[in-house]
Amino acid sequence: ARAIWHQVTTSEFPEFAKASVLMRDRSKVETTIQAMQRAGPEALQVISDFDMTLSRFAHNGKRCPTTHNILDNDLLINDTCKKRIRELLNTYYPIEIDAARTIEDKRPHMVEWWTTVHDLLIQQKVRKDMLAQAVEESSAMLREGYKVFFDRLQENQVPLLIFSAGVGDILEEVMRQNHVFHPNIHVVSNYMDFNQCGELQAFKGQLIHTFNKREGALLHAARLGKLRERPNILLLGDSLGDLSMADGVAKPQHTLTIGFLNDQVDERKESYVNSFDIVLVKDETMDIPNDILNYVT
Ligand code: TMP
Ligand code: MG
Repeated sequence: ARAIWHQVTTSEFPEFAKASVLMRDRSKVETTIQAMQRAGPEALQVISDFDMTLSRFAHNGKRCPTTHNILDNDLLINDTCKKRIRELLNTYYPIEIDAARTIEDKRPHMVEWWTTVHDLLIQQKVRKDMLAQAVEESSAMLREGYKVFFDRLQENQVPLLIFSAGVGDILEEVMRQNHVFHPNIHVVSNYMDFNQCGELQAFKGQLIHTFNKREGALLHAARLGKLRERPNILLLGDSLGDLSMADGVAKPQHTLTIGFLNDQVDERKESYVNSFDIVLVKDETMDIPNDILNYVT
C-alpha cells in the first residue's frame, strides 16, 4: 500500500515514536522518504558502513568485535601481537570517538593506528585458509533484522555499497556465513593481499580509515559505474566520517542519512543530531532502515 507518509507514520511506523529515534527535522525526513517512494526502488541505492553499523556494537551487554578484532584469534596471530593490537585499540579508539576533537585532528592518529595494525598482521603472516574459521569462532553478529534488510534489497535489485575501513575479506565472510552476501552488494574496503603460500604479505590499494572515506568514494566512483547514477541514497553509518561515503554519487537528488549512536551517547548526541537526518541511540536493530525500505520499495 502506497499511502501518504503523514497518514501512516503512526500506524505503519510505530518505531518512529521510540525515544531512541532522534530527528533534527522530522518533516524533512518525511518529505525525503515520500520523494524516494515516488521515484521508486529503481532510483535508490543504499550506501552503508560495515563495522558497528551493519554489524552489532553489543549483544547482551557484551561488545561485539569489529572485522579487525575478529583477527584477534590464536589461529591467526600470536600472544605478543594480540597484546600489542589491544594496546593500540585502547590508545586510538578513544581518539576516534572523542567528541572534543575535530576530524582533521583525528586523521593522522587514525592513519597511525591502521598502518601499525596492518604491519603487525603482515608480520604474523596471517593465513587465508584460517579466516573463515576465525569468523566462525568470533562473536560477530549482524544487527537484528539484518536478513530482512539484505534480502529486501536483493529482491528489489537495489544496489548496496558497503564502504568499510575494516577488513574486506573478513566482512565478506561474515555476510557469507549469515547467507546474505548477495549479488547486489559492492564492497569498498581494505582487502588482504596473500602470497602464493596463502600468507598475508600486504593490503591492497589505498588505505581506508574512518576519516578518509571521501577520498575513497571519489577514487572508487569510476569503478562503481552505473551505481553512481542512482540519485536517491539511503546512507547508514555509525561515525561522522561515514557521512562522506556518498561523495562519489554523480547527481544525488534525495539523500537520507541514518546514524547509529552506539557509544559516548551524551557527549556525541548533539553533533550526531546535527549531522545525520535520523539518529538511533543504542539501537541494535535494523528496524528503522527496514521500515523505510518497506515504504520505498
Ligand atoms: P568501519 O566502521 O568504517 O568499517 O571502520 C572500522 C572500525 O574498526 C573503526 O571504527 C575502528 C575499528 N578498528 C578496530 O576495531 N581495530 C583496529 O585495529 C582498527 C585499525 C580499527
Ligand atoms: Mg563503523
